Amino acid sequence: MSSEDKGKRETFYHKTLAKEEIDILFSPKVFSNITKFDSEKEFIPNSLSTKDNLVIKGNNLIVLHCLKNTFAKKIKLIYIDPPYNTGGDSFKYNDRFNQSTWLTFMKNRLELARDLLSDGGSIWVNIDDNEAHYLKVMMNSIFPNGFVANVIWQKRTSPDSRNSLGDAHDHILVYSNNKEKFKKDLKQLPLTSSQKEQYTNPDNNPKGPWVSTDFTAQGYRPNQMYKITTPGGTEYYPPEGRCWKNLESEFCKLLEEGKLWFGRDGNGRPRVKKYLSESSGTMSWTWWSNKEVDHNQEAKKESILLFGGDQPFSTPKPERLLQRIISLCTEEEDIVLDFFAGSGTTTAVSYKLNRQYVGIEQITYGIDYMPERLKKVIEGEQGGISKEVNWQGGGSFVYAELYDLNQRFITRIQGAKSDVELNMIFTDMIQAAFFDYKVNLDRLTNDDSSFKTLSLEEKKQVLIESLDANQLYLSYSEIEDVQYEIPESVKKFNLSFYKKLK
Ligand SMILES: C[S@@+](CC[C@H](N)C(=O)[O-])C[C@H]1O[C@@H](n2cnc3c(N)ncnc32)[C@H](O)[C@@H]1O
Repeated sequence: MSSEDKGKRETFYHKTLAKEEIDILFSPKVFSNITKFDSEKEFIPNSLSTKDNLVIKGNNLIVLHCLKNTFAKKIKLIYIDPPYNTGGDSFKYNDRFNQSTWLTFMKNRLELARDLLSDGGSIWVNIDDNEAHYLKVMMNSIFPNGFVANVIWQKRTSPDSRNSLGDAHDHILVYSNNKEKFKKDLKQLPLTSSQKEQYTNPDNNPKGPWVSTDFTAQGYRPNQMYKITTPGGTEYYPPEGRCWKNLESEFCKLLEEGKLWFGRDGNGRPRVKKYLSESSGTMSWTWWSNKEVDHNQEAKKESILLFGGDQPFSTPKPERLLQRIISLCTEEEDIVLDFFAGSGTTTAVSYKLNRQYVGIEQITYGIDYMPERLKKVIEGEQGGISKEVNWQGGGSFVYAELYDLNQRFITRIQGAKSDVELNMIFTDMIQAAFFDYKVNLDRLTNDDSSFKTLSLEEKKQVLIESLDANQLYLSYSEIEDVQYEIPESVKKFNLSFYKKLK
């Protein structure tokens, strides 16, 4: 849906469709304009390999239906940043749905997304206070017992000077189809440089720098209340309300291994040494400050570095935010999906972290931001997280679009600037469009019709609604129809894609 549809119902999801019509709507569609990009060339690939990165242009509901067999249970991580439904007008896509329509819009897509996740896979939905709580209630029913966390991302750097109690954060709702496995497999966060600076080596330990941690635990456990005598001869019992952290046998083992610290004079309370060389990082929690994962302004800077002043929207996401998510719950070569991909932050970061990716975006904002960004990533662009991960470029991705039928008229209608232009489009539609069978074309063409008296925007709306929503894109079952003149290479690619259906 684009901003032209603002405030209306989603073009085809609230029509009453017969079973057969639904089957057509969600049947596999033909991919066209297929191009593979690598560091040396662009070419038309004959097939899709299981390792190919994919960028697809089209309505994400239809694209998800095309992917549902090929990628069933193969995706490790889905991150999405959908329209927040803020009622705002500043976006080129629709951000002003009725609430129930927005929830239906999300539900249709989330149910498909759920079936793409591998065992222990997760979905992360970035959202703000407008819909977060309604979305969470709905997601609880789509992912029964799957709620993992509500991450609070501090997206701003300072309060909005024009708005008291302005929001400082977004929610990122995290769900998994196997919460226990997901949590077990979660990675630790690497230590930050300031955390590393806390490690020192006051005793010239051959194992290198270390920090000391408490050797007590809360509560009273009879066999953890023993007396400890320090090397300097001082005797200690656990403090009031606490016990030692381990049994005496474990204490003796730690002592033997030189892992206990009693202060410089050997008379301090026992503490345990944690060596930097043995540290695998820190546990994550649900508060993500902008110091750790950046903020909206940084994301905007990254976007300006990539595209100059020509910005697709004001709130792309920062690369470090996606780096945190992807690093926490995926391994190299796992597949990451974003079906509200926008300028392609998720795909670019996946690339730089050596994850396979699928990005889906419907709108071309003058230029196709995601593929253009990924071409720069192949060339080794050095913005975002590139320097930190020593990104050198390389790799490849396959770009494909759903073969437009009525969608191409919708795109033209939406872009029309005058009645004259709209009339020309309508003339072409009469030749080639698929109209809704209930539409009375005479009422649109007749000179006396009230259609002529409508405003440009109203006419656009009527024309879009006159189209058969089932024929937005060409069905794969029609690929051999000669009227569409599909080249052999395109047929081969589609065959290789859908062959994986079996
Ligand atoms: C907030 S933006 C995502 C920004 C992205 N995270 C980034 O960093 O660039 C949401 C995107 O979803 C796209 N979108 C909205 N509805 C869609 C649909 N039905 N199919 C495909 N894309 C859609 C919009 O065009 C928009 O680019």
